[in-house]
Amino acid sequence: MKKMLIAGNWKMNTNVFESEKLVEYIIGGLKNKHLLSEILVCPPFTSIASVSKIINYNKISLGAQNCYYETKGAYTGEISISMLSHLRCSHIIIGHSERRAYFAETDDLLNKKLIAILNTDIKPILCIGETLQDRQSNKTFEVLNRQLSIGLDNAKENLENIIIAYEPVWAIGTGLAASIEQISEAHTYIRNKLHDCIGKVADNNLILYGGSVSQSNVSSILEIENVNGGLIGGASLKPEEFLNIIEQSETILKK
Ligand code: PGA
Repeated sequence: MKKMLIAGNWKMNTNVFESEKLVEYIIGGLKNKHLLSEILVCPPFTSIASVSKIINYNKISLGAQNCYYETKGAYTGEISISMLSHLRCSHIIIGHSERRAYFAETDDLLNKKLIAILNTDIKPILCIGETLQDRQSNKTFEVLNRQLSIGLDNAKENLENIIIAYEPVWAIGTGLAASIEQISEAHTYIRNKLHDCIGKVADNNLILYGGSVSQSNVSSILEIENVNGGLIGGASLKPEEFLNIIEQSETILKK
């Protein structure tokens, strides 16, 4: 059976109080449901501890939106993987295009983060994706190739934990998701590239799609071969819509 991860990336939204309300609403909506999909919420750092106390880890997992690769020390403003692990985070998003664009994160830096995360039980969600300019100049696969080759270089531990999120930059927050054909093509490419980088285990690695996923397009996206869920920004902040997206994922898995 297909595996599905529905992940909410709350970005720099929700203070502690709002995060608690949001996750409580989601928990309420999932009450008495036996889920086949895995559900993940990634609040801002400041809310992780309080959300951690509220969630029922059977149904909802907790993730962070970033981390640093060093274990501790003089890195003002940074958060270590063990700090997140201590709060029972099971996933960490790395390399989101907003971090690449606004905070100058490079493939080399992300590789260091990935290797450090793989040395723990936490699952890294490595985001990759082309800009509009890349796509228009036919460089989409060149970019994906570079991001995966460097990002996954020397990955040896816990390879089954690696999750890739394909997020075309032009589709993020624009209301303009990639087409079924574009997603299908990119995810097949990523699956094949994962085989090259980490070997046969890649059959089972999750590949998520992100970029303007909503309750109106989610079913058609999740039905695509090699799509194992979504990384959802805007729609994950609207609890009814997020629950609706989970419901649609469940319907697909139950088919
Ligand atoms: P979006 O964001 O769903 O608001 O497009 C997705 C993401 O940035 O992960």
